[in-house]
Amino acid sequence: MLKTAICELFGIKHPIIQGGMAHVATAELVSAVSNAGGLGIIGSGNAEPEWLRQQIRLTKQRTDKPFGVNIILISPFAEQLVGVVLEEKAAVVTFGAGNPGIYVPRLKEVGIKVVPVVASVALARRLERSGADAIVAEGMESGGEVGETTTMALVPQVVDSVQIPVVAAGGIGDGRGLAAALALGAHGVQVGTRFACSEECIAHPKYKEEILRASDRSTALSGQKTGYTMRCLKNKLARQFQELEESGASLEEIMTFGMGKVRAGLIDGDVEEGSLLAGQISGLIKEIKPVRVIIEEMVNEAEAMIAKLGGLCGRD
Ligand SMILES: Cc1cc2nc3c(=O)[nH]c(=O)nc-3n(C[C@H](O)[C@H](O)[C@H](O)COP(=O)(O)O)c2cc1C
Repeated sequence: MLKTAICELFGIKHPIIQGGMAHVATAELVSAVSNAGGLGIIGSGNAEPEWLRQQIRLTKQRTDKPFGVNIILISPFAEQLVGVVLEEKAAVVTFGAGNPGIYVPRLKEVGIKVVPVVASVALARRLERSGADAIVAEGMESGGEVGETTTMALVPQVVDSVQIPVVAAGGIGDGRGLAAALALGAHGVQVGTRFACSEECIAHPKYKEEILRASDRSTALSGQKTGYTMRCLKNKLARQFQELEESGASLEEIMTFGMGKVRAGLIDGDVEEGSLLAGQISGLIKEIKPVRVIIEEMVNEAEAMIAKLGGLCGRD
């Protein structure tokens, strides 16, 4: 059985974290992942604090296993969302899109583990000094907001720069990816797109179908000018975004154009004019599966791969 430092840190069976995903990582998906031995994470996105409170309570009704909450620091409600987590309690908080340093002491004081998601060595180092319990190093293959460095290059550099456990994210969709992440020195993986395309995820069936139809070259980056670069499946909206950016539109125009588009794509299933956040690993995903099967297959395949690689050593 694969056991790593993050299994112990979070009290979970398998070193697999489901990435917090705005709109679609709700109690249904989160509890399924935690019940299957991983760590489910509620994606609070830009939601209001009361929505998060309700989701935490719903998740607790569905599982007695540890789970977490993701807060993106550009949310207008970031401060209140942290307040809700402190009141309702979750085992772990992951933070996306920025430096959560100011929130670390308050959360740690009540025993909540703090796990920032970073795209650079410098931020990983700074957040370790602020008291983070672990770091998610997220490569630019990921779905959603991304940095500039690939998972393959970023993870070992972060591993070499901090003492706390590192979790690899971006481009991991099966057991080969999990084994590779462990080989890079990570203590586990954070998986987004593969879980977005699971049976339990509430994302619109049309969005899931688009992931199944995707190939290795089906995603594109949008919004580089805004300082908030997003990886999505290519569609009409992605082309419109590119045209808008090339036309020299102002930051405000681009932001206004982007409003409501993620919900339209992921929840309403508008696959042309909505934003279909998804990672480069989409091309590997060929079937919508239950979360338990995804996790079991990932762990079994990783173990088999590690044994196979071990067998390569000592040959003439
Ligand atoms: C639909 C979708 C929504 C996402 N929303 C968020 C978010 O709200 N906050 C965040 O920190 N990361 C978000 N992410 C990133 C994931 O948490 C995770 O780190 C990433 O998907 C891992 O890469 P992968 O998609 O290749 O598995 C999102 C990813 C997807 C696919």
